[in-house]
Amino acid sequence: MAAPRVLIAAGDIDHRVRELGAQISQDYAHVTMEQPVFLIGVLKGSWIFLADLARAISVPARFDFIGVASYGAEKTSSGQVRLTKDLDAPIEGCDVILVEDIADTGVTLSYLIDLLKRRKPKSLRIAALLSKPTRRTRDVPVDYVAFSIPDEFVVGYGLDYAHTYRNLRDVCVLE
Ligand code: IMP
Ligand code: MG
Repeated sequence: MAAPRVLIAAGDIDHRVRELGAQISQDYAHVTMEQPVFLIGVLKGSWIFLADLARAISVPARFDFIGVASYGAEKTSSGQVRLTKDLDAPIEGCDVILVEDIADTGVTLSYLIDLLKRRKPKSLRIAALLSKPTRRTRDVPVDYVAFSIPDEFVVGYGLDYAHTYRNLRDVCVLE
């Protein structure tokens, strides 16, 4: 397999994630220590993005993780989403932001949105590091997108191929 080709360099990611953090801090300026914004990272792909986004947010925030599996060792989704880890705490009445690595077909996000909405959060928004708009088969509202990318399989900054490459600093195309 050829070496991954850099699509979005680490410095550009850093800059853009800080912008998103500032935007979120502005949009959630009303939250308090008692009612912080609740960021939920989708495991495993979002953990590096969430770690950086968290530190770019200046309003009170708390964090939890939810785990889903939709891909095996292939580059295309099986189309089946499976919950591998549930939240540790209820989200009823909370301002929730679901943080995902990438909105591809939208199947995973629409599954998670349905699941979380049933738990009656006060509000629910979606943040994704990446979006491949041309791949979408489900109409999912993604409120915060760091980068829209073409239909190419990418790895790095949390994203994997068969569980590897997550620790690359850049987002790279795997050819
Ligand atoms: P969706 O359900 O088709 O939107 O796919 C969402 C999930 O598929 C993401 O959370 C990723 O884990 C994975 N995924 C989709 N596209 C890529 C990619 O280009 N690289 C790595 N993982 C991807
Ligand atoms: Mg994922």
